[in-house]
Amino acid sequence: MSSTLIAPPALVRRAEQHDTQAIQALDSAHFMHPFTSHGDLAGMGARVITRADNIYVWDSEGAKILDAMSGLWCVNAGYGRKELADAAYQQMMTLPFYNSFFNTTNVPAVQLATKLASLAPKVGGRSFEHVFFSSSGSESNDTNVRMVRRYWDLLGQPQRKVIISRHNAYHGSTMAGASLGGMSGMHAQGDLPIPNITHIEQPHFWDHALPGENAADFGLRAARWLEEKILEVGADKVAAFIAEPVQGAGGVIIPPATYWPEIQRIVDRYGILLISDEVICAFGRLGHWFAYEKFGYRPDLITFAKGVTSGYIPLGGVMVGDRVAKVLIEQGGEFNHGYTYSGHPVACAVALANLELMERENLPGHVKEDIGPYLADRFAELNDHPLVGAAETCGFVAGLVIAKNKATREMFDPALGVGMICRGHCFKNGLIMRAVGDRMIIAPPLVMTREQIDEMMGLIRLCLDATLDDLRVAGELG
Ligand SMILES: Cc1ncc(COP(=O)(O)O)c(C=O)c1O
Repeated sequence: MSSTLIAPPALVRRAEQHDTQAIQALDSAHFMHPFTSHGDLAGMGARVITRADNIYVWDSEGAKILDAMSGLWCVNAGYGRKELADAAYQQMMTLPFYNSFFNTTNVPAVQLATKLASLAPKVGGRSFEHVFFSSSGSESNDTNVRMVRRYWDLLGQPQRKVIISRHNAYHGSTMAGASLGGMSGMHAQGDLPIPNITHIEQPHFWDHALPGENAADFGLRAARWLEEKILEVGADKVAAFIAEPVQGAGGVIIPPATYWPEIQRIVDRYGILLISDEVICAFGRLGHWFAYEKFGYRPDLITFAKGVTSGYIPLGGVMVGDRVAKVLIEQGGEFNHGYTYSGHPVACAVALANLELMERENLPGHVKEDIGPYLADRFAELNDHPLVGAAETCGFVAGLVIAKNKATREMFDPALGVGMICRGHCFKNGLIMRAVGDRMIIAPPLVMTREQIDEMMGLIRLCLDATLDDLRVAGELG
């Protein structure tokens, strides 16, 4: 083995001048990306993002791009927030790491747990006084599976193992996370889901409503799929139901208003635990610190990650409701579960600085009172566009479906990849918008102004028009 150290190649000639091709070649040679076909990537070369500020990112060719996806649903406070960098620096110089195993703790982790407990509203006499930390949403959902099983074991009901989730849900990419999720493409690789996880259909009005059915009736019918599944599995075998308040990665699927109250009735009736996966929806995204408040349901466990640090550093966790915490703490003894980085002091310090910033700037209120309603109005205007089947928002997430015929809900041939055509136009026109099949979705930073929403809406319309032109030229619109 050679003892020569290989210096990293000089890929940045000076600020703002990158050797894109060299970066792409090394990227292709060495970096295995998540959710990426490397065969395809090698042919086209990855887009190299080099810097960011506010709601914009820049690539290695100097192009300025409006990031309507907040990185990956996480940069809630926007890019370039110096106080978050300062918090990380200060904490690294004070205590860069110490574990929280073996009866040990650290100050930022204690402060953050206290802060999170104060931000989670009490509902129906339930409160969230305890937090278990991880480094991601996926890990947090693994923690949920461990906690739920431990809870029922401690209560003398070890047969309660089954967790019910929903098709097209996203709960992460670890074995448990991907199993809880309902992504068929993920299940197809690696024998997933793992045992004792089963799925019901999602409350997706566009896909599943019956002809003539209104949203309220559909919401009730969709919630009752949970009751049917509980009875099919056997009520005494069901441990928990997990769901995103609004499905994110599945395509911003916003449930009708009747859905969550009916879900609450059902979980109460059968006594099963309710896990609210708020990795996307918490920390202002829906205009509240936590999304269950918006919909008025009462979870037992809440998964969080992403927005807690605005994505500046990895941190996730589970808010543990008192129903579960009491049993684990008073009857459980040692819980044989944890991560090296549970309660990482630097991540917790950055999260604290981020939450302070969000509080100071009232970002949840800004979404709820100002930019959320404004985005809703502007997004609704897209319903006039010939390609848009339905356009809807919830807080500061939004989705539209590209349809061939709105009235009959006819979609384009999937082989055309209309969503990808539209996404291609977004790339070319300096807009990051995500395609999920033929749904186009956004989750912009919560610091956006009304003027920036106007700028984004102009770009979205431009890209839809360009997609329409392509479809006309291809003879797809008759
Ligand atoms: C709802 C939800 N849960 C869990 C996860 C997984 O989080 P992570 O990628 O941090 O593991 C995600 C990621 O997008 C998510 O959207």
